Amino acid sequence: MASIKISPSILSADFARLGEQVEQAEAAGADEIHFDVMDGRFVPGITFGFVILEAVRKHTQLPIDVHMMVDDPVRFVPEYADLPGLTMTVHVEACPDLTGTIEAIGAAGMRPAITLNPATPLSEIADALPLVDRVLVMTVVPGAGGQPFMDEVLPKIVELREIARAHNGLEIAVDGGIKADTAPRAVAAGVTTLISGSGVFGHPDGIAGGIRALRQAVEGL
Ligand code: DX5
Ligand code: ZN
Repeated sequence: MASIKISPSILSADFARLGEQVEQAEAAGADEIHFDVMDGRFVPGITFGFVILEAVRKHTQLPIDVHMMVDDPVRFVPEYADLPGLTMTVHVEACPDLTGTIEAIGAAGMRPAITLNPATPLSEIADALPLVDRVLVMTVVPGAGGQPFMDEVLPKIVELREIARAHNGLEIAVDGGIKADTAPRAVAAGVTTLISGSGVFGHPDGIAGGIRALRQAVEGL
């Protein structure tokens, strides 16, 4: 099996030392950085947006996955298009026109990806799936870090893996409650990219310790 990618979510980072923490994650072997944008509407909280992303971009060469937990995210595409190395991941539940949004993201030079909430079935993304090479399956209700992994989402990952067989190279990411104990279940179901916030930035052995623990947990699966 291809090696599993690890994507630390900076939602659990120390924001007063954000640049340094992102550099530590890259030095420890992270494959990308996950950046959670929340608008106070699609989810209750507000986090950060483009100006902070611009600052983070200067501290890492890694691809950055911008997880848009915002209503109608196509509104932000022109602004974000200016930065290199971005994936823009949009929620099917937040897009009045999902295929149009994906096309706009691609036309702006970013990599489009789709995500869906735990309660949303894969049938909701069927039409848009041929337009992307990455799907993010949420294993918590989006809005906060540190929530428990929802095992009941695993059958959806298995179902997506079956679809992925006919869709060469589909990357399956997972976000929410990923730690050394839950990561093996996600990978066994078919996940190829592990997004983890508190499991990396909140790990008792530090950022490198958190990344190492995840890698060891899925080694050989
Ligand atoms: C949740 C965010 C996640 C969050 C995950 O709404 O989308 O990216 O950082 O946090 P953990 O890994 O702590 O569950
Ligand atoms: Zn996220």
